[in-house]
Amino acid sequence: MINTETFSEGSHTKYQAVAARISQLIERGTFLPGTRIPSVRGLSRQLHVSVTTVMEAYRVLEDQGLIEARPQSGYFVRMRSLRLPQEPEIRYPDLNPTNVNLDEQVSAVMRDLHRPARFAFGGAVPNSELLPISRLNRALLAVAREFGLRGSLYDSVAGCEELRIQIARRALDSGCIISPDEVIITSGCQQAVLLSVLAVCRPGDTVAVESPTYYGMLQIIEMLGLKAVEIGTYPKTGMCLDLFREVIDRHPVRAVLLVSNFSNPLGSTIPDEKKEKLVNLLAEHEIPLIEDDIYGDLGFSGERPKAAKAFDRSGNVLLCSSFSKTIAPGYRVGWAVPGRHMAALEKAKFVSNISSATLPQLAIAEFLSNGGYDHHLRRIRRTYAQNVTQMADAVGEYFPRGTRVTRPAGGFVLWVEMPEAVDSIRLYAQAREAGISVTPSPLFSARKQFRNCIRLNAAQWSPKSEGALATLGNLAASQIVTP
Ligand SMILES: Cc1ncc(COP(=O)(O)O)c(C=O)c1O
Repeated sequence: MINTETFSEGSHTKYQAVAARISQLIERGTFLPGTRIPSVRGLSRQLHVSVTTVMEAYRVLEDQGLIEARPQSGYFVRMRSLRLPQEPEIRYPDLNPTNVNLDEQVSAVMRDLHRPARFAFGGAVPNSELLPISRLNRALLAVAREFGLRGSLYDSVAGCEELRIQIARRALDSGCIISPDEVIITSGCQQAVLLSVLAVCRPGDTVAVESPTYYGMLQIIEMLGLKAVEIGTYPKTGMCLDLFREVIDRHPVRAVLLVSNFSNPLGSTIPDEKKEKLVNLLAEHEIPLIEDDIYGDLGFSGERPKAAKAFDRSGNVLLCSSFSKTIAPGYRVGWAVPGRHMAALEKAKFVSNISSATLPQLAIAEFLSNGGYDHHLRRIRRTYAQNVTQMADAVGEYFPRGTRVTRPAGGFVLWVEMPEAVDSIRLYAQAREAGISVTPSPLFSARKQFRNCIRLNAAQWSPKSEGALATLGNLAASQIVTP
């Protein structure tokens, strides 16, 4: 019997609450793999919710790979979930600040990540077949015709107003009430983060990062002569606040740098309550939070998680994002909402490249204002949900026993933790020979603490990739010497 208590709790919509309840029952073994779950009508009667709500919930569970529909028989718990590998656990790094020296080996791998590969599981790039290229081309042509001269001139340092209006409107979905004047357009999210760090840090300062962290953060810290302190991070719920408190009791920390939703590489999403706690804690200590929310629009459930910025009452959060994961990385259009650091950020932007290219901004503003974005997002979220599930399942199938893999609720990267004996740099080199790119784990830590993990990009996954993943699994297994 399924508990029929309220189905509108928390920030969940009804169908998400129903999906969460069924998923819990599967996890706890109430519904075993291969068994039938209640029919749509049956569950709708039992829970006093509409048939549409249950159908929507089952669609989410299908996308998550937990259940499957069998024609004329109903819905069943997928057999494959029997082999689901466990998720990685938080690791506890050294909590002392350290200089970042990305050595030649790591730098060479970084340079190599965007090299085309037959099976591109390396760089965290979106699937090019899912980019809205023809609609974007039409938008570009339309704005080039309408704003020919303006497109050839500098716009303001803050960027085109049309785009800042669209960004401010869409920010409501992530719980942020901001005006276009609070937005500054950048050339991608990487520049937004770099300018934010420039705005609040000075050489020698210590910056707290997740562990593992996106290597772009480490590149910035290294280049600006800062120190990093790595904070243990939960694969589901993000940075550990207790460890962070320990760090600020011991060392002065100038800023925190993290990816708040569907992070890279762990896929973690900080729950709302924890976001609020973090934002308040940082405000109390006057430590700016540089929040990278580049994957926030890619949640599989369809519900947009809040940005930490939504809880910011003092202007202490510098929110950074871009359209690189959703619309077109090559347009290099990103933005920052830097709160009370606006003047410093504007100065940094001006020094860095005066302003961003005008026409790509106008084209994206046109695309957003014509309403195509939500439809586009629904499509890509669905595909990425399936890809992530199928790739994680395949890791369970082909990688050596003891391998763990994350199950992110959005975005498109997976973090795979293999048995201790596997050296991920060696695996990267062997895979490269086989035409497969992966990202080895030493890139994600200033102290190179993760030796036996890789990040896989599931965006390009297709059934044809299965053989490549089997090859990767075999290569990993071949590194384990059995007595
Ligand atoms: C977390 C994160 N931030 C920033 C970037 C870079 O974004 P952009 O291409 O918009 O500069 C990436 C790209 O991989 C990323 O994963």
